[in-house]
Amino acid sequence: MAAQERTQVGIIGAGPAGLLLARLLKLHGIDSVILEARTRDYVEARVRAGVLEQGTVGLLEEAGVAERLHRDGLVHNGVEIAANGQRLRIDFRALTDKTVTVYGQTEVTRDLIAARLAGDGPIVWKAADVAIHGIESDRPRLGYRLAGVEHTLICDFVAGCDGFHGVSRPSLPAALGQTFERTYPFGWLGILADVPPCSDELIYASHPRGFALASMRSPTRSRYYIQCSLDEKIEEWPDARIWDELKLRLGSEPVPDITTGPSIEKSIAPLRSFVSTPMQHGRLFLTGDAAHIVPPTGAKGLNLAASDVHYLCRALVAHYGKGNDDLLNGYSNTALARVWKAERFSWWMTMLLHRLHPETSFEAQMQRAELDYLASSQAAQTVLAENYVGLPF
Ligand code: APR
Ligand code: PHB
Repeated sequence: MAAQERTQVGIIGAGPAGLLLARLLKLHGIDSVILEARTRDYVEARVRAGVLEQGTVGLLEEAGVAERLHRDGLVHNGVEIAANGQRLRIDFRALTDKTVTVYGQTEVTRDLIAARLAGDGPIVWKAADVAIHGIESDRPRLGYRLAGVEHTLICDFVAGCDGFHGVSRPSLPAALGQTFERTYPFGWLGILADVPPCSDELIYASHPRGFALASMRSPTRSRYYIQCSLDEKIEEWPDARIWDELKLRLGSEPVPDITTGPSIEKSIAPLRSFVSTPMQHGRLFLTGDAAHIVPPTGAKGLNLAASDVHYLCRALVAHYGKGNDDLLNGYSNTALARVWKAERFSWWMTMLLHRLHPETSFEAQMQRAELDYLASSQAAQTVLAENYVGLPF
């Protein structure tokens, strides 16, 4: 007979979505258990992006995990777009009175895990073969195996925060839903190096040789990306070749002074836009990458997971606090409304800044014209700025 446990909200996945949800629920007196397939070390070692919208920073403050963020995070009042040999600064502060904060997702995850393990509740690491049962009943159950022992976690609700490859989304009846997907014929080669960043703000570069991005983690650690084809192997990109390519693609006036050094992490990631609807069925609610993926060009991945969590937490608080299920019943529509806008912005930034067509093509001329328009129109810059800093919840 499987060991039985009981909680209010069973959360699958200890990524930023699952951890932030557990934390915010706890602050409202709602208990949860987090089942995570991997070890703590693995989860804390994952290198991911690092630009937080102002709304996400607000949520992390509300969750009481923003101390290191405020100490080590870099507040940016703008971003640079390099194209046609020139660098254009988009002034977030002037255009939207908002900012973004550069603070690695790895650090956000570490802060949330530390808070969780400081007394909020359990994280079951290495929970194997998590299976979801009874989501159409009012007592869904999560089966899992731990060190060879079968367990059953009885819940009121299940939050699927288990990312793109998790078990939650496939647990929704296929006939119920619809998926929307766009894959891109290129990838991002990312490099992390302990060298000072080449600029105070991020530089997104559109170049005939392909896209490039100059980002950072701290005043002494830089993160760069270059567009590459999907069939390229990381072995074909020794550090020196990457630095040479970055200098070429980021070479717009004023040319940034790129300090080079040995990479501490290097990887190639494909780009994808993906949305699965609905984001709920019965007592199962999806958040973050379990329901949607954005290409990283708009820096929206983590921020969308945070807004899903904001909507789901608010709805669960209304359920337990007032016995009102209106927000729960409307969760999927509410979350998807913001998801689709972020999907549009991320797709638009990707199509605008990447090398997709021959220089002589009509499409390439459209990209050039759109970048010229952006450089000449405050209205266009405001559109980019308000989407980049984050649309309201
Ligand atoms: N059982 C238990 N845990 C699982 C399972 C499973 N079957 N499948 C996946 N997980 C865990 C993963 O190991 C991971 O720790 O779920 C977690 C999902 O975390 P993320 O993939 O980080 O997804 P999410 O929390 O939604 O965060 C989205 O992550 O990928 C970035 O760009 C994305 O920034 C966005 C953020
Ligand atoms: C990053 O710092 O890793 C980063 C920043 C902005 C993006 C994507 C990634 O759009």
